[in-house]
Amino acid sequence: MSSFEVLNYRIKSKSPLFVGMKLPICRRRRIGLLLVVPLLVILFHFNTVTELYRQDLFYKREGKMSRKSDHLILGPAAGQGLSDRIQCQGTRALNKAHMNTTVANSINKVSFVTVFTFYNDTSPPILLPLLSSSSDRVSVANASYDKKERSLAILGAFIDFIQVSMPKSEVLILSDPSSKFPLKRENVFVIPIQGDYSRDRLMLQRIKSYIFFLERRYEEHQERSNDMGLNHYIFTDSDIAIVDDLEPIFQEYPDFDLALTFRNNKKQPLNSGIIAVRGTLDSILKAKVFLESVLEVYTSRYIKASRMLGDQLALAWFVKSHLSLDDATIFKNTSPFSNEINGATVLFLPCLIYNWTPPEGSGQFHGMPLDVKVVHFKGSRKRLMLEAWHFFNSTSKHIPNMLCLILMSGRTKYDF
Ligand SMILES: *[C@@H]1O[C@H](CO)[C@@H](O)[C@H](O)[C@H]1NC(C)=O
Ligand SMILES: *[C@@H]1O[C@H](CO)[C@@H](O)[C@H](O)[C@H]1NC(C)=O
Ligand SMILES: *[C@@H]1O[C@H](CO)[C@@H](O)[C@H](O)[C@H]1NC(C)=O
Repeated sequence: MSSFEVLNYRIKSKSPLFVGMKLPICRRRRIGLLLVVPLLVILFHFNTVTELYRQDLFYKREGKMSRKSDHLILGPAAGQGLSDRIQCQGTRALNKAHMNTTVANSINKVSFVTVFTFYNDTSPPILLPLLSSSSDRVSVANASYDKKERSLAILGAFIDFIQVSMPKSEVLILSDPSSKFPLKRENVFVIPIQGDYSRDRLMLQRIKSYIFFLERRYEEHQERSNDMGLNHYIFTDSDIAIVDDLEPIFQEYPDFDLALTFRNNKKQPLNSGIIAVRGTLDSILKAKVFLESVLEVYTSRYIKASRMLGDQLALAWFVKSHLSLDDATIFKNTSPFSNEINGATVLFLPCLIYNWTPPEGSGQFHGMPLDVKVVHFKGSRKRLMLEAWHFFNSTSKHIPNMLCLILMSGRTKYDF
């Protein structure tokens, strides 16, 4: 029996549902069970509560929540004992259900599209989202980086993860034509697009670049036969790690034109860090029109919003104003749903699986879902992205183990 099975067995034998299913017919034993079942229910919950309590104690004792760490810190893994969450023993994953979702022999292709620009002056390159400004050199594993090198390292890790999880995919980097950065990688292409990439305008420029890109693709695809397969596009921030194949989204949900990720957050229910677009002519066109509408909302309503948030606020405003579902409840869902938004079929995917962020701070959280596909290293978590890649590349090259490392480290605030 492997340790995974042992653990699984332990969870199952504690689970009230499991016991309930095995209720024997014998009356005396049934009475006995009537007492045992609630006890088991209590024990089961007690276990998860103490687990959470222990984590909180750990972080209180560390007392480091406000200080930012310049090295990897591992705490306890959250979600232990929950059967739909990754179970870890140290940085060893005990279950790994999610690792086999590749579409066999697909003739279609998925390209990732991100915006990155490098300034010729002394200011650091722009990485989306913007890095907080700490000026010193930092070290990750054996490498040391200044600000520019750090951003390039994150872009490099972004590409590395894609090449591991979706080796057939291309990475397309939309960039200011005047910015030159050293990047020679296979299956990675820099696409210069004119625009105003200055810091204050960057999120605005990003939508504009996406729209321009889709426009050009629309023209190109018109001359292309679908026999060659479709080329889907996923627009992303570059501080994310793709840890599983995303192509199955396009098969499992064959009707959407574009897909967004949602979460239960009243002010910002949508994250603009991932936008998937189906590679048919019709969907490319609809996605372009959709983004043009978001851009319009951005310029008319949110142009003064903090430079990081404008696009996200505009996206949520536009979607909410066309949603035929109750936005007060629908984003509390944990499963995907779709809705017609101004002529486009939009698929809403839960951030929990498709845009998972390690929670920071001392609040409770319930671990990492088994089938997580995208990890987003928002805010002061960029170091963790590089540390995670380093761990992956220098140990067994086992994604679930790396996910355990991310899970255990998720509450730490890092220096970049
Ligand atoms: C993964 O899926 C493929 C094809 O569906 C199958 O042949 C293979 O046995 C699976 N591997 C595991 C480890 O389940
Ligand atoms: C990092 O440095 C240590 C000790 O200096 C060495 O043992 C290790 O192999 C190095 N790792 C890498 C990835 O270069
Ligand atoms: C992965 O690790 C090897 C050494 O084990 C190193 O040579 C290589 O550069 C690393 N690759 C990346 C992309 O970090």
